[in-house]
Amino acid sequence: LPIRASSYQHELVQTAKSIATPGRGILAIDESNATCGKRLASIGLDNTEVNRQAYRQLLLTTPGLGEYISGAILFEETLYQSTTDGKKFVDCLRDQNIVPGIKVDKGLVPLPGSNNESWCQGLDGLASRSAEYYKQGARFAKWRTVVSIPCGPSALAVKEAAWGLARYAAISQDNGLVPIVEPEILLDGDHSIERTLEVAEKVWSEVFFYLAENNVMFEGILLKPSMVTPGAEHKEKASPETIAKYTLTLLRRRVPPAVPGIMFLSGGQSEVEATLNLNAMNQSPNPWHVSFSYARALQNTVLKTWKGHPENVEAAQKSLLVRAKANSLAQLGRYSA
Ligand code: 13P
Repeated sequence: LPIRASSYQHELVQTAKSIATPGRGILAIDESNATCGKRLASIGLDNTEVNRQAYRQLLLTTPGLGEYISGAILFEETLYQSTTDGKKFVDCLRDQNIVPGIKVDKGLVPLPGSNNESWCQGLDGLASRSAEYYKQGARFAKWRTVVSIPCGPSALAVKEAAWGLARYAAISQDNGLVPIVEPEILLDGDHSIERTLEVAEKVWSEVFFYLAENNVMFEGILLKPSMVTPGAEHKEKASPETIAKYTLTLLRRRVPPAVPGIMFLSGGQSEVEATLNLNAMNQSPNPWHVSFSYARALQNTVLKTWKGHPENVEAAQKSLLVRAKANSLAQLGRYSA
């Protein structure tokens, strides 16, 4: 029997295309309350809802953000919040032509039977949660699972990561949300860049195998890969040109051109490194829009500038625009440090 396609098919393609537009990328501010607490603690603030709201308001009301940012990934709490003047955050985004997105995974837990690896929770009830998020204005989703190179990775952990992403992607599309597919290959370890490439090829081949088995429409997804780099503790650092060469090799070997956009995570790279690496990848035409979906590499300076003081909000917003513009130029291959 034919498989029923999502009734949102055309809308999904449009949503993905509007996120993957030249010179724009994604602002990831979907830190869970626990992770947001760590960021706030770094500037001496308590992890309260008031402080989380104030920080997200600063980010989401930055004037001119929509020129460089096409989508913003939110945590569930933020999706339902408003500015202190009572304007819904989702409306602030829409007014800047930024698509609201939502983190839908429920985080990582130990994977029994593996080599100390983890798996990602959140499939139970995902369809009804996704339908609710759509009603609230979200049009894309994110599910982040991780693969650890020093822990193996075991065949079991890779298969579980790929299968979970594929089930999530199918459920998201069925509910009108463009799924961002994010198997983060962690930077930790002292392995070489060749080893990262080998693991990434394995991970992405399984991800696309299961995406196809789950009848996911490739024109209506976005990817959020890690760049192919040596492990963080490897003896040598790689240049942006080398990282671009290995990363583009991976993508050309594993990612069909039907996929509209590749939105990299920053994964602990510094702000400038993340921008230089993206710029290096856009020195010649690619079959997909190659862009950013950074959290830390867009927010580090913003946090340090803000420090929780209302009088610093404007300066902090300016520092967000500096990073957003730099990455916008990098998306176009026109950034120089
Ligand atoms: P970083 O860019 O800080 O690695 O965050 C990526 C991410 O998955 C957040 O959505």
